[in-house]
Amino acid sequence: MRYGFIGVGKMGGAILKGLLDSGSISREKTYINGRDFEKTRKQAYDLSIRALESKNELVRFSDVIFIGVEPGAFPDVMPLVAEAYTPEKIVVSMAAGVTIAAIESYLGSDAKIVRIMPNAPARVGEMMASVSVNSNITEDEQKMMISLLSGMGKAAVVSEDLISAVIGVSGSSPAYTYMYIKALAEAAGEYGMDEKEALVFAAQAVLGAAKIVLTECTSSGEDDGQDTVDIDSLIDSVCTPGGTTIEAVRSLKDNDFEKIVKKGAAAAIEKSAAMSRDSEH
Ligand SMILES: NC(=O)c1ccc[n+]([C@@H]2O[C@H](COP(=O)([O-])OP(=O)(O)OC[C@H]3O[C@@H](n4cnc5c(N)ncnc54)[C@H](OP(=O)(O)O)[C@@H]3O)[C@@H](O)[C@H]2O)c1
Repeated sequence: MRYGFIGVGKMGGAILKGLLDSGSISREKTYINGRDFEKTRKQAYDLSIRALESKNELVRFSDVIFIGVEPGAFPDVMPLVAEAYTPEKIVVSMAAGVTIAAIESYLGSDAKIVRIMPNAPARVGEMMASVSVNSNITEDEQKMMISLLSGMGKAAVVSEDLISAVIGVSGSSPAYTYMYIKALAEAAGEYGMDEKEALVFAAQAVLGAAKIVLTECTSSGEDDGQDTVDIDSLIDSVCTPGGTTIEAVRSLKDNDFEKIVKKGAAAAIEKSAAMSRDSEH
């Protein structure tokens, strides 16, 4: 398989690098195209892959084409992709708020289209990505996509109408998780701890808590004989009566912590839904 990447910024670049580093795609058969050819050529040189100045050429050379440009660049980029596109090629879009129907409007209703919603931890091999496909993608092609992305973390199939929810829960949430970690470190800093050191304590606590949730509250989908626990019981399990944690949990609840986080996620979800509606006009 030959792979092309159009738009190699933060997200497209992280996916490209993740796929190359995991050996899922071969350097000899990977091409990139960016907005600024000199910049793209340097990126290609650093990754030992090939930069192509023309999108037409990249599409002709590739079997799978990742589109990593910002949603606003689609009207410029997609007509150029369409010029050379033929319907046996798979186009993978990672854009928030650009629907499969909008992409079909450029490439035709017989085009093979995959919409993924990755997130920033792709950079460290801990991505959570959703995968949604149109009806031209075969079961095997869907499996191939899940397998490719799983090399950088986790990937799961979701129906396209849930992508906005995925954006709220994982696509955008690294940003609000950084905010939470920063606030924890600042709190410790206010009580005399070095903030750089406190950042390590806070981040490691979030990492460990996340691992416990993944291990104890979710099942792998296979019958591994393990019962899952409710997340509220995990919260209770660290709240010793008369202890310190229960005081923090009570204060957070009194100050509507959960409601504030839900409102933040809902703002991302609503924005994505509005962008999706606009992308089809
Ligand atoms: N960042 C995230 O955490 C995240 C998460 C999920 C999904 N996404 C999606 O991923 C996509 C990229 O986001 P990003 O954060 O990676 O943005 P970004 O860093 O700005 O990357 C966009 C890239 O597209 C390039 N580009 C723009 N116009 C182009 C054109 N006409 N031809 C070729 N390349 C072009 C840009 O080049 P220049 O740098 O030269 O302008 C840049 O390298 C977006 O659609 C976004 O919705 C991002």
